[in-house]
Amino acid sequence: MKIDFNNMLQTSIGEHGISEQDIQKMAQKIPQVHKNMCTKREAMAWRSLPYNQAEIVADIKKEAERINADFENFVVLGIGGSALGSKALFTGTKHLKYNEIPREKRGGARFYVVDNVDPDGINALFDVIDVKKTCFHVITKSGNTVETMSQFMIVLGRLKEVLGENFKDNIVLTTDKEKGILKKISNQYGFKTFTVPDGVGGRFSVLCPVGLLSAAVLNIDIDALFAGAKEMDEACTREDLWENPAYMYALLYCAAMDMGVNISVMMPYADGLLNMAEWYAQLWAESLGKRYGNDGSIVNKGQTPVRALGVTDQHSQIQLYTEGPFDKVISFIDVENFHTELKIPQAPIDMMDAAYLQGQTMGKLIASEMRATEYAVTQAGKMNMRITLPEMSAREIGALFFFLEMATAAAGEFLEIDAFDQPGVEAGKIATFALMGREGYEEKAAELNATQGKDGKFVYQV
Ligand code: PA5
Repeated sequence: MKIDFNNMLQTSIGEHGISEQDIQKMAQKIPQVHKNMCTKREAMAWRSLPYNQAEIVADIKKEAERINADFENFVVLGIGGSALGSKALFTGTKHLKYNEIPREKRGGARFYVVDNVDPDGINALFDVIDVKKTCFHVITKSGNTVETMSQFMIVLGRLKEVLGENFKDNIVLTTDKEKGILKKISNQYGFKTFTVPDGVGGRFSVLCPVGLLSAAVLNIDIDALFAGAKEMDEACTREDLWENPAYMYALLYCAAMDMGVNISVMMPYADGLLNMAEWYAQLWAESLGKRYGNDGSIVNKGQTPVRALGVTDQHSQIQLYTEGPFDKVISFIDVENFHTELKIPQAPIDMMDAAYLQGQTMGKLIASEMRATEYAVTQAGKMNMRITLPEMSAREIGALFFFLEMATAAAGEFLEIDAFDQPGVEAGKIATFALMGREGYEEKAAELNATQGKDGKFVYQV
């Protein structure tokens, strides 16, 4: 994988870029950032996942074999960090119409992720799966999340209707080792259960059972995922900024934030990587968007992630990125070798001025469009950088996950905030409990109801 930061700098984009002096100033923080990254290594338990899961992976592979042998469909029920990694893994490595191709080509069950409580979305899934022939992987680290628990209850109800009491094999759980309702349910009913290790938060959990059971069911090479993550770990634990791409990413993005660049666009030029941009959006937003600094002062840090897709969004957002405000940094992701190639043939009619396309490939076209867009935003003086993957393989995807996790953790150290909590998410979760009538949340419900409709004159009903 190649990570090119040149277009973040004044030398490439002019006055709105980062200068050598900015880098030198920010680099003064590196010894402390590095010290913290080293001392917190154990607490950041996600960093050990590529190394310490041999037994768990063996169990996961066994479970995946059972699922693929006995079921037509595999459905992940979860939200946020419990779902986005599976989605990124799925489209990042597999056939883009996976569920529609014949089973013998797929080599396993159809794969779905349900990460919303939209009744139309859930009912649409029930319209296309036979629940009897479906294994549901219910993932919630806290074991209490309302979206996941409600999905689980609906699924249990459906399974009971068609299987009576014999639904145990259709359910696999992944949750905390002791906390939460899901763990209690697991203890009481004996569902097959995997554990989210201590110190592995949702958005850093893709390389534990949260994402690995999906990987195994999809026949993604887990050893290759880990190999990529380990290679990236080796590079991203070096103290020297000039040898550590995660530190450079963190430094440049934090320098950009200091310059008022409040938006981080991730723009992969590959349909399969749009879910990687979704995963990154959660990682970057939830980890760095914080009201308080480590010293308790109010800092209101963070940078808004935006997902865009090349080339599709060239005809939607690029006008803004090129000519709009200097408030964004774009990370382009390109792929050197797609899974397949497609040649533009000699057309059977006169194509006139479009004839130059004949004989060329779509791979060349998408690569050229990326370079052209990169050139245009660079000429316009907008910060951008490029991550180049040789291919969309398990190894490269594992490396990319790990790189972005390390960069996010290092950015947390630069910003002097806790990158691993999410009090803002918790506040919404509590308010939902209150609105849904959960016992113990009556006071919060009263507070919420009291704020309803206060400013009626600003509400228009047409
Ligand atoms: O990264 C996080 O911690 C969150 O996004 C969680 O993954 C999300 O809120 C779901 O939580 P849980 O896995 O506890 O259901």
